Amino acid sequence: MRVEVFTLFPEVFEPYLSLSIMARARQKGLLEVRLHNIRDWATDRHKTVDDEPYGGGGGMVMKPEPIFAAVEAVLGRPPQVPVILLTPQGRPFTQEVAWELAQQPHLALIAGRYEGVDERVRQHLVTDEISIGDYVLTGGELPALVVLDAVTRLLPGVLGDPDAPRKDSFSDGLLEHPHYTRPAVFRGWKVPEVLLSGHHAEIARWRRREALRRTWERRPDLLARASLTEEDRAFLAQLEAARRASESDPSAAASSPTPEEPAA
Ligand code: ADE
Repeated sequence: MRVEVFTLFPEVFEPYLSLSIMARARQKGLLEVRLHNIRDWATDRHKTVDDEPYGGGGGMVMKPEPIFAAVEAVLGRPPQVPVILLTPQGRPFTQEVAWELAQQPHLALIAGRYEGVDERVRQHLVTDEISIGDYVLTGGELPALVVLDAVTRLLPGVLGDPDAPRKDSFSDGLLEHPHYTRPAVFRGWKVPEVLLSGHHAEIARWRRREALRRTWERRPDLLARASLTEEDRAFLAQLEAARRASESDPSAAASSPTPEEPAA
């Protein structure tokens, strides 16, 4: 995949893209990132890229000309690839959107700065707008890196275990189960027995249940859209029943099946 990044701060990207999995993906030729400094397309003596908003008010707005010139110089007019603006007003970035972008052979990311970009960039150049969350950053550089990172690890051949991305949190609509590694006992805290048993079916069942439990506890909103089996639903019903029992009679919580291990 090739990604064209348009930014006023290309130097922000290089260190992160030179580390670990991002670096390996680039070395293997699976990811090519080209950084373009929007300021290089400013035409006046001062290389101006922003200006005051029409209508007054505080803050500065990124001018349309250098952004159009940069994107069209690199990608043609009109660009034949998705042109994505990182902005808090965009559609929310999710694992599903990461999978969608990972199918593209070529795309462009525009990292805005200041109070925003001239609306004509949105209307006549950009084909998609993405937000990484409901908070406002000082620029789109970190969001662009977030998108690049999440997408890169989905590209075929990037991760050692080709099935790894499918097991991630969110990929089946659930948060991931807990992970443990050696030692089996640390400061008296034991790794759950089932994980040491070598019994693969039992381990898979435990992991599924813990993923369900974790999602139910932390992100119940995800359960509504997750694909669940009858067994999953039965387990969730047990969790609900245990919660109701402990709410109506807190002293019963100790004697009823604990939230840690509801009766099978
Ligand atoms: N630029 C500033 N804040 C942002 C956000 N939350 N997502 C994407 N781009 C942004």
